[in-house]
Amino acid sequence: MADLKDVTRDSWIMSTFPEWGTWLNEEIDNAVVEPGQVEMWWLGCVGIWFKTPGGANVAVDFWAGNGKRTHGDGLMKPGHQMANMAGVRKMQPNLRNVPFVIDPFAIKNLDAVVVTHIHQDHMSKELAAHVVNNNMTTTDENGKEIPVPFIGPKDAVDIWVGWGVPREQCIVVKPGDRVKIKDMEIVAYDSFDRTIIVTTTDTSENRPDLWGKCPMDMDEKAVNYLFVTPGGNIYHSGDSHYSIYFAKHGKDIAKEFGGVDVCFGAYGCNPIGIQDKMEATDMLRMAEALQSKVVIPIHHDVWTNFQADVQEIKVLWDMRKDRLDYKFHPFFWEVGGHYTYPQDKDRFAYHHDRGFHDCFDHEPNVPFRSVL
Ligand SMILES: [Fe+2]
Ligand SMILES: [Fe+2]
Repeated sequence: MADLKDVTRDSWIMSTFPEWGTWLNEEIDNAVVEPGQVEMWWLGCVGIWFKTPGGANVAVDFWAGNGKRTHGDGLMKPGHQMANMAGVRKMQPNLRNVPFVIDPFAIKNLDAVVVTHIHQDHMSKELAAHVVNNNMTTTDENGKEIPVPFIGPKDAVDIWVGWGVPREQCIVVKPGDRVKIKDMEIVAYDSFDRTIIVTTTDTSENRPDLWGKCPMDMDEKAVNYLFVTPGGNIYHSGDSHYSIYFAKHGKDIAKEFGGVDVCFGAYGCNPIGIQDKMEATDMLRMAEALQSKVVIPIHHDVWTNFQADVQEIKVLWDMRKDRLDYKFHPFFWEVGGHYTYPQDKDRFAYHHDRGFHDCFDHEPNVPFRSVL
């Protein structure tokens, strides 16, 4: 037993963090994806890990950070995107609300790091360091060994390069671009993340004055993606707000790829004065416009001040599905959980493995059976 003298703040942190240790890393490494399926894990926020039958491991919006950890001076940076948006100065109480379910430094197999946009809760310096410092490689279309590519819009690539990722290891994508990773094709689409338009790189008092300026090129800051996989077409909308143009994406994807199977949307309950996440009606409208078969809310998990009840989506879906003849249904996930498509296509909700599958395979050790 550890002597109390050995128990320190450092020993506590090292023995409890990350909360899930390498549990999920091991689960992903050990997962065998059947032909015609695609397996996904929710990493928290809008982070998704994809694994395909052809062995493509792709991390999207992998992020290993947190939010507020102290009250500090009670103020936010005057050029923070929420300060730009709503003219606020008081610190937003966005505390990280979910455990760390994956250890970036224990990742062994990775074929691409993909990012939708430049916000801090969508990019990981830790993962970048792990990939670059360990010279992690994958194989290109011709079977040639190459460094694991970093794929994202121009400004995300600039951030990676600023961290020390070699520019030649990065692939800048804009709407319409395609990248092939083993048996997966990643197709970039327009983002509708209007919070990006009020995001300035300089967050100090000297931030650029945005008033009257025609917005910068959105495509350089954010994109949405379609992941075309052997198990289905998965649409990841990053932090997009609702847009009527989802309908065009839905039509284009139906024509070109046979339709969207699953779509992810950044869901949340917006505080007064803020328009940043899609709410229940937006999630349903997005799924309907994309002609998706399943809609999965994400992002509502992570910030204490944007939490939302997914049952709002279910209640609204129940009220509308017959009149509007919805062809999709929602699926409610848990952080750290997996979802296999099309295997799980008819499920409505996830529950972590409840265990005890081998009950009574061995003789219990009890005084008598009636105690059971
Ligand atoms: Fe964002
Ligand atoms: Fe976000």
